[in-house]
Amino acid sequence: MKWTVILILGCFLTETTLSWTYHFSEEALNWTKARELCQTNFTDMVVIQNQLENDYIVSLLPNKTGSPYYWIGITKKQLNEPWTWVGNNSTWVGEHSWALNEPNNNHVTEFCVEIYVNTGPNRGKWNDEKCSNKKQAVCFKAQCNSTSCERGRCQETIGNTTCLCEPGFEGNRCQTAVKCPPLSQSDNGFVSCSSGSRIFNTTCQFKCHGFLIVGSSELICTHGANWEWSGPRPVCASYELILLVVVGSGVLSSCYCICFCCISHRKKQKLIREKQPEDATSPSGGINK
Ligand SMILES: *[C@@H]1O[C@H](CO)[C@@H](O)[C@H](O)[C@H]1NC(C)=O
Ligand SMILES: *[C@@H]1O[C@H](CO)[C@@H](O)[C@H](O)[C@H]1NC(C)=O
Ligand SMILES: *[C@@H]1O[C@H](CO)[C@@H](O)[C@H](O)[C@H]1NC(C)=O
Ligand SMILES: *[C@@H]1O[C@H](CO)[C@@H](O)[C@H](O)[C@H]1NC(C)=O
Ligand SMILES: *[C@@H]1O[C@H](CO)[C@@H](O)[C@H](O)[C@H]1NC(C)=O
Ligand SMILES: *[C@@H]1O[C@H](CO)[C@@H](O)[C@H](O)[C@H]1NC(C)=O
Ligand SMILES: *[C@@H]1O[C@H](CO)[C@@H](O)[C@H](O)[C@H]1NC(C)=O
Repeated sequence: MKWTVILILGCFLTETTLSWTYHFSEEALNWTKARELCQTNFTDMVVIQNQLENDYIVSLLPNKTGSPYYWIGITKKQLNEPWTWVGNNSTWVGEHSWALNEPNNNHVTEFCVEIYVNTGPNRGKWNDEKCSNKKQAVCFKAQCNSTSCERGRCQETIGNTTCLCEPGFEGNRCQTAVKCPPLSQSDNGFVSCSSGSRIFNTTCQFKCHGFLIVGSSELICTHGANWEWSGPRPVCASYELILLVVVGSGVLSSCYCICFCCISHRKKQKLIREKQPEDATSPSGGINK
């Protein structure tokens, strides 16, 4: 395989990792041709997503003592446009990505970027260049594909790919729909849900047949501390039961009231009775003194 690649391209060297693989051409081409070469043989011209990746890629490329260096996949069409990575439309540019006094648009239409791989202080820094100049290409081949993550976005980092799941999904490929706990059917009513599988965002409506619903009549499967329903399960209560409760509590409170009155009345009487002997003896006590 490597030999076929070499024959077609006139030497492509390959570095492999678990995620994106990086490849560079031996042949120097203008930027447009260099990108075409990347797209034909790999995924696209390299996308650098952060400083760590920048330094990693530089460490893979052979050192050079002078121009031409390597094309990287960041460009713009017009002066006032932001620099954009062609491989994923990101506009990431690090604080220390550009070499000193770059980008300088020296030749007015320097809308392509090379990366220095010398051994000096500019190592790993970027320089804007005319796109018609010829340089070697740095390409990448993505490991993420349309089937990598079922319900999420596949993200490639150095030596690793990760699925970032949509809400309501989990698992290393985002293949598992999260579920809220089952809701039991009610004795005196029924529950109907927007999905039978109790997945994220499922809405369940509760109805009571000739009974009164106590609690919220709609629950949603949502993400709180865990995957859980938005509230406690409502209950169906019969009017008789509610009446009984109301009457019962009424009776109970009247009972309580009566009892309370009774007790306090008795207490008062007791107090009066206890006081009375004192009152009766006190004048005589005074006489005794
Ligand atoms: C594109 O690159 C940016 C770098 O900032 C990264 O955050 C993003 O995940 C990349 N997108 C894709 C689809 O690879
Ligand atoms: C980048 O954006 C252009 C224009 O909006 C679009 O045609 C292209 O498909 C996008 N590329 C990626 C990799 O998202
Ligand atoms: C390239 O240069 C860097 C920085 O001077 C050095 O650390 C690295 O070992 C060199 N790589 C090779 C293959 O010579
Ligand atoms: C790049 O090179 C190709 C063929 O060598 C040529 O047709 C094309 O015009 C060049 N493009 C630029 C922008 O220099
Ligand atoms: C898609 O990528 C996965 C790993 O993320 C790999 O196992 C699978 O073979 C790839 N499928 C295709 C069609 O390339
Ligand atoms: C890949 O990245 C994920 C999330 O950052 C991490 O949990 C996992 O351990 C990594 N796998 C490898 C093989 O490094
Ligand atoms: C969940 O439902 C809300 C409101 O109906 C909606 O805005 C959101 O897009 C839904 N999310 C998913 C992942 O279905």
